Amino acid sequence: MRLHIADHPLVAHKLTVLRDRETDSPTFRRLADELVTLLAYEATRDVRTTDVAITTPVGPTTGTRLSSPKPLVVPILRAGLGMLDGMTRLLPTAEVGFLGMIRDEETLQATTYATRLPDDLSGRQCYVLDPMLATGGTLAAAVEYLFARGADDVTALCLLAAPEGVEALRAAVGEDARVQVVTAAVDERLDENGYIVPGLGDAGDRLYGVV
Ligand code: URA
Repeated sequence: MRLHIADHPLVAHKLTVLRDRETDSPTFRRLADELVTLLAYEATRDVRTTDVAITTPVGPTTGTRLSSPKPLVVPILRAGLGMLDGMTRLLPTAEVGFLGMIRDEETLQATTYATRLPDDLSGRQCYVLDPMLATGGTLAAAVEYLFARGADDVTALCLLAAPEGVEALRAAVGEDARVQVVTAAVDERLDENGYIVPGLGDAGDRLYGVV
């Protein structure tokens, strides 16, 4: 598994505003959106492309287009939805599938409650959106699910990660270089409730309020 920490002053600045408990939901949503676009730039470094012959006003040249099948973006409901616009801004031709997963607050185990994805993901590069890589259970289950349907590779975009989650995911997928995590930071630890410390709190609640 490959881990990429986006080390950039703009990423650090936006993340700091997200962490601040005084930041309200509208500002949080906007900043999360902007941060995802910066992460998406890093995460798509290996997106497949094809050479294409075009003619500029001055003459012929060879350019680059995204290959088919198009990349598949998979937000994990609910909080991953807050990352969707930021991702598709950079990849407007990507298709979008949905994976509904919920974490049991006592066992911290992830269960799937809804899916809306193509049955066959052969040849697909998948970009999973999940703001918080905490215990790693949700992401490990999502990666397993996408590979079981034939996905070629899976890149997860996370606003924040905990060392425990990174290690759990690494233990689940091993040295498989088809799996990549791109995040703005790896924090100190998880607390006893499975929250990332210092983290930013409950990402879903910060984006959408407490429902
Ligand atoms: N999910 C969240 O929303 N926040 C955490 O800190 C951990 C999991």
